[in-house]
Amino acid sequence: MKILLTGGAGYIGSHVAAALVSSGHDIVCFDNLSNSEAGVMDRLEAITGTPIPLVKGDIRDRDALDKVFGDHAVEAVIHFAGLKAVGESVAQPMRYYDNNVRGTLTLLEAMSDCDVKTLVFSSSATVYGSPSYLPIDEEHPTSATNPYGRTKLMIEEMLADVAASDPEWRIATLRYFNPVGAHDSGLIGENPNGVPNNLMPYISRVAAGRLNELSVFGGDYPTPDGTGVRDYIHVLDLADGHVAALDAIAKTERPLSTWNLGTGQGYSVLDMVKAFERVNGVRVPYRIAPRRDGDIASCFASPERAERELGWKASRGLDAMCASSWSFEHMLAKRNTD
Ligand code: NAD
Ligand code: WQD
Repeated sequence: MKILLTGGAGYIGSHVAAALVSSGHDIVCFDNLSNSEAGVMDRLEAITGTPIPLVKGDIRDRDALDKVFGDHAVEAVIHFAGLKAVGESVAQPMRYYDNNVRGTLTLLEAMSDCDVKTLVFSSSATVYGSPSYLPIDEEHPTSATNPYGRTKLMIEEMLADVAASDPEWRIATLRYFNPVGAHDSGLIGENPNGVPNNLMPYISRVAAGRLNELSVFGGDYPTPDGTGVRDYIHVLDLADGHVAALDAIAKTERPLSTWNLGTGQGYSVLDMVKAFERVNGVRVPYRIAPRRDGDIASCFASPERAERELGWKASRGLDAMCASSWSFEHMLAKRNTD
């Protein structure tokens, strides 16, 4: 299949690009490079042995979308493009609604007009809000506690309405839990600008001496060791989940499907720190700090529906997540000194 990846130069998009090429798909990436760089395409070529076209453009630009659909015989879209920083979304809500919601609406209009009606959308476990039970299955009530989360919920609602309006649509909403880790090659991974918000890149930078110590946000949660518990999923497992979802919606009669992509296993912040230290033979100094606003104690998925309907199950454990994050950190350091 010929697949357009919006946000294909980003962290998750680049790993999915590699997985799709390995599965024999033909792809084109579309990205405004607001949170990525064009150099990732060379590294993808080194990984896959195939040059992958990158079109620099914005999903809010209808003309640019029409051109990419006109130039390439696109049959399906995987839609990663979006802004994703929770704190930033609180400070700049209009930017988030514009980029994420208006951007998605523009993409849907362009798709509809050129009769491309197969879509995989990057949603998030953030749409479950504060969990009322664990593990979280897809029937869990949804809510949002910040503008970023509200953009994901609004888009999910938009997709439900679109799917209900026309039975030709085949839409998969994938709710990611906590993606971490990097490609085995060490060539692509997560490299946030500035000080990382997320745990794993923060741990890597502390281990590398680029940051002094990790602040563990809260040591008094009702969890086994008092620190927050999350469902960390290796980005390569997540990438395989996209390939499986795309295959599934090509066969299904259902216009809309929703799947959790998680492992079902929760780990605490201190579990992550200790695993990172053990696997990589490094030290990660930390101190227990106050809770972070808006954080919840525990969040982990029931991945059963994805296993049953997609035949997909995460297979990589914590050690692989920590080892690949550290290899990528090394590669970044090497790239910066070359
Ligand atoms: P990322 O920032 O690395 O990738 C997003 C890409 O989209 C970037 O390359 C960016 O330049 C591009 N982009 C942003 N706005 C655009 C626009 N208007 N037009 C064109 N390109 C645009 O983020 P990621 O971690 O790879 O996340 C991908 C998707 O997955 C996002 O939608 C995010 O909300 C979702 N998600 C991420 C996580 C996570 O923890 N990483 C968890 C759940 C869901
Ligand atoms: C994980 C755990 C923190 C940093 C966020 C978004 C969510 C989704 C994934 C996109 C928590 C603790 C973290 C640090 C710490 N993204 N922590 N010190 O908050 O589960 O989810 O990313 O959709 O929407 O909210 O992930 O990696 O920020 O935090 O102690 O410096 O690590 O308190 O328990 P989170 P995270």
